[in-house]
Amino acid sequence: MKDILQELEERRSQARLGGGQRRIDSQHAKGKLTARERIELLLDEDSFEEFDMFKAHRCVEFGMEENKPAGDGVITGWGTINGRMVYVFSQDFTVLGGSVSETHAQKICKIMDMAVQNGAPVIGLNDSGGARIQEGVDALAGYAEIFQRNIMASGVVPQISVIMGPCAGGAVYSPAMTDFIFMVKDTSYMFVTGPDVVKTVTNEHVTAEELGGASTHTKKSSVADGAFENDVEALSEVRRLVDFLPLNNREKPPVRPFFDDPARIESSLDTLIPDNPNMPYDMKELILKIADEGDFYEIQEDFAGNIVTGFIRIEGQSVGVVANQPMVLAGCLDIDASRKAARFVRFCDAFEIPILTLVDVPGFLPGTSQEYGGVIKHGAKLLFAYGEATVPKVTLITRKAYGGAYDVMASKHLRGDFNYAWPTAQIAVMGAKGATEILYRSELDDPEKTAKRTEDYEDRFANPFVAAERGFIDEVIQPKSTRRRVARAFASLRNKKLTNPWKKHDNIPL
Ligand code: HXC
Repeated sequence: MKDILQELEERRSQARLGGGQRRIDSQHAKGKLTARERIELLLDEDSFEEFDMFKAHRCVEFGMEENKPAGDGVITGWGTINGRMVYVFSQDFTVLGGSVSETHAQKICKIMDMAVQNGAPVIGLNDSGGARIQEGVDALAGYAEIFQRNIMASGVVPQISVIMGPCAGGAVYSPAMTDFIFMVKDTSYMFVTGPDVVKTVTNEHVTAEELGGASTHTKKSSVADGAFENDVEALSEVRRLVDFLPLNNREKPPVRPFFDDPARIESSLDTLIPDNPNMPYDMKELILKIADEGDFYEIQEDFAGNIVTGFIRIEGQSVGVVANQPMVLAGCLDIDASRKAARFVRFCDAFEIPILTLVDVPGFLPGTSQEYGGVIKHGAKLLFAYGEATVPKVTLITRKAYGGAYDVMASKHLRGDFNYAWPTAQIAVMGAKGATEILYRSELDDPEKTAKRTEDYEDRFANPFVAAERGFIDEVIQPKSTRRRVARAFASLRNKKLTNPWKKHDNIPL
């Protein structure tokens, strides 16, 4: 028995070494942790339970019979994050470049199936040279099996991808179908075709970092939701995110202890809105003042800054926040902002996370680039996402809510549960100047008359009371008591039940 136990330990030690010390050193030299070190940082201490440590590929091509590393380049299993269960796979670049074989894919599929069955998130730590070249179509088939599971798991359990090395070719489509993608700066990249192919086909000279590094995907393409300095920071931020999320679509998000008075008065909010309606202010200040302990987990911080998305807690409960940001493009909605916010709203709705919408929007951004780019279709995404969402929806208009953008931003008409406004709110088809220029075009050469008309329009519409008279605004609230009002609104909605008519699925404008 002693020998048998010793053999088990030897096999385990061998498997834990992955591709060997030389390759581990080379991984470290690149500033990257190994697949196992990453799992250790991601999960609670000693919580990891591994599956398929000895699983090996069955390829016999290109001398592969001689090279059958235990585990086949991916470590899979489950563990806990702050005591809550998650499934995880971590690709081991030291073993055949973390390349995906038929068996490597089977290991990932196994934990994905278990995650869906047992209702726990899947976290994928990606570091792979892509499809195992020696295996050909078997490797491609393996990828497609993963893709199919990504699709089936979408909206059932949260799926999070962390890109911690190469992720190229069709391999990018698995992370692309997960809920969140995070990248590590300087050591990770994602692209469908690499710099060499790009050079051959389009004659563009571009580095891997320029083509698909963390900066590209968080600032330009919006493929990624966040970029972190190194592996350690990325993994600890994933832990923080998981704390906001439910384990699956049938559970409520976790309730965390809170030490912040829900009725906290914030007198500084009474002066947040500048006297001049065209002056910007930082909407993030309001978010931080509403949140428990000022804790805000921002999603896509570096993309479409005219809308802010992320998670806070109120009375310990997770809340998704969508907020126009007057500091960027005056808070206008455009293609990028609409896409960003629509996806976020749909995530929150799929996972029963209530939504707080903070509105200061002068309208949709005008211009040929917006129209040619399909702002009609992209703007409709956000409208659609809000309208179909059945989670508790609390909306606060702080200043401008003009035109179609008023309707889009979780208005009463899109089944907003609580629609609040500050006394500084202006709810109208458009701003006073634009409105008088259209209504009184014939008087434009008389500046005095025009000024009077503008003033009249402002008196009539630059306030929340017309909407409040109609019940489109439930209550005009004092800025300083926003946290209390919002907290009470969400508290009253905890048992909200709303279902949409049966359908196979909707046809959101993609
Ligand atoms: C088999 C692979 C591999 C692969 C890397 N390796 N990629 N083995 N299949 N796809 C092995 C290498 O042979 C090497 O083995 C080890 O991994 C480390 O690779 P290096 O090249 O030494 O590392 P590095 O210099 O860091 O370069 C990393 C790399 C490069 C840029 C990822 O390895 C590379 O270009 N690989 C091929 C990428 C690729 O074209 N993959 C297919 C993409 S298409 P040793 O034994 O020397 O340590 C795809 C389709 C998916 O994935 C389809 C889904 C539909």
